[in-house]
Amino acid sequence: MTRAIVLAAGKGTRMKSTRPKVLHEICGRPMLWHVLEALRAAGIAEILVVTSRELEPFLPVFGVQTVVQEPQLGTGHAVQIALAALEPRDATLVVANGDMPLVDQTLFEDAQAAVDADAGTALALVTATMPLPSSFGRIVRTGSTIRRIVEFRDCTAAERAIDEMNAGIYAFDERALRGVIGELSDANAQREYYLTDTVGLLVAQSRRVVPVQAQDYRDVLGVNDRVELALARATLNERLCHAHMRNGVTIVDPATTYLEPDVIIGEDAVIAPNTSIGAGTTIGARARIGPNARLMNAQIAADVAITDSVVVDTIVAAGTTIGPFAHLRGGNVIGADVHIGNFVELKNARLATGVKAGHLTYLGDATVGENANIGAGTITCNFDGERKNQTTIGRDAFIGSNSSLVAPVTIGDGALTGAGAVVLRDVPPGDRVVGNPSRSIASERTAST
Ligand code: UD1
Ligand code: CA
Repeated sequence: MTRAIVLAAGKGTRMKSTRPKVLHEICGRPMLWHVLEALRAAGIAEILVVTSRELEPFLPVFGVQTVVQEPQLGTGHAVQIALAALEPRDATLVVANGDMPLVDQTLFEDAQAAVDADAGTALALVTATMPLPSSFGRIVRTGSTIRRIVEFRDCTAAERAIDEMNAGIYAFDERALRGVIGELSDANAQREYYLTDTVGLLVAQSRRVVPVQAQDYRDVLGVNDRVELALARATLNERLCHAHMRNGVTIVDPATTYLEPDVIIGEDAVIAPNTSIGAGTTIGARARIGPNARLMNAQIAADVAITDSVVVDTIVAAGTTIGPFAHLRGGNVIGADVHIGNFVELKNARLATGVKAGHLTYLGDATVGENANIGAGTITCNFDGERKNQTTIGRDAFIGSNSSLVAPVTIGDGALTGAGAVVLRDVPPGDRVVGNPSRSIASERTAST
């Protein structure tokens, strides 16, 4: 089975950050995550990440083996450390830089296939033709044969004119790699042990090094500073948008639609500008999302419309309309054909089919029955200073404007609260209460007769 080594120990000096470089995020995920995803998609499950002391504590969530490289003496030194940590095998070993978040699985598959194709091949090297200037390592060939890689800072003027670059993805015959890895030297411009020197060393032993050419150089762009980080994000975001559009989603303006991986969007959904859709979100067919919407881990059914609103950790059934300017903070389950209007905030709220909460309302820790109408300014007073309490509102209840429902409290099915009622006690089904504090109209009538 093919194993992989991912190089991630570098200081990332050009990021000017206290955060290790490969943890900087692109479309909501660390750069390193993207590289690991691509390797796994290519069928490589056994991954060893070369890490630094600063990065090491962040790696358990990635589910990889790690080895600390300290000090960091270059990519070749990183691979020396990795090989010392791995039981030798007679198999293919992929090595990849950890700072290339746009890479996709096909390059790893193609490189593996190229080295596996022929027992005489020691290395399949991924190369990419790029516009100049570029600071990537140059591929030096004589005729069509690869001879060596020259790092940008060691290049002559003539070598700088070469536009075929080393991508930073290598599929080695592990035994061939072990045969040369000890021979690296740091006699170069950066006083580092370069992994790239293994190419020249293998060629000197008459071992075969074959190129695997990337179709699109942008797949292998490295991220070394925050300008490149932003460019990589834009590229990946554009790809995600294109994939959804090709699946039948209308994205009005991809440049201002911010997507993360692991988002599912149904056919004929329309995403309006300035909208962010985070990982774990699913959106049903014909839904209309945006403009100015932010969805995180939201399950949105078909035909829902959400504008100018924030929806987090929430389930929304079909045909519901939300916004403008609603804030669904989390833990909500919203039924079908509900209307949530402007300046409505929901937290841990369950709204059954047909509920209307049109204006200026807070429903926290609340259950609302079918077709209940929540008047403007209604507040569930769910916090008594110590704990959060539950409000239950029955089906067909009518909550008058500016009602304060002091939880824990239950408003029965079909009950009514008058405008401005402060409800301190449960209201039985069908009853009406008014005032501050509220009193039952029915019992008042009884008292006056
Ligand atoms: C490297 C290649 C260059 C290639 C380019 C592609 C070398 C010497 N050069 O250059 O030919 O065109 O990638 O992006 O390999 N790292 C360690 N330990 C170290 C040094 C680096 O783990 O001691 C890691 C870094 O975290 C990074 C990767 O190796 O993820 C590449 O290192 P970096 O310094 O970014 O190399 P480049 O200068 O980009
Ligand atoms: Ca780099």
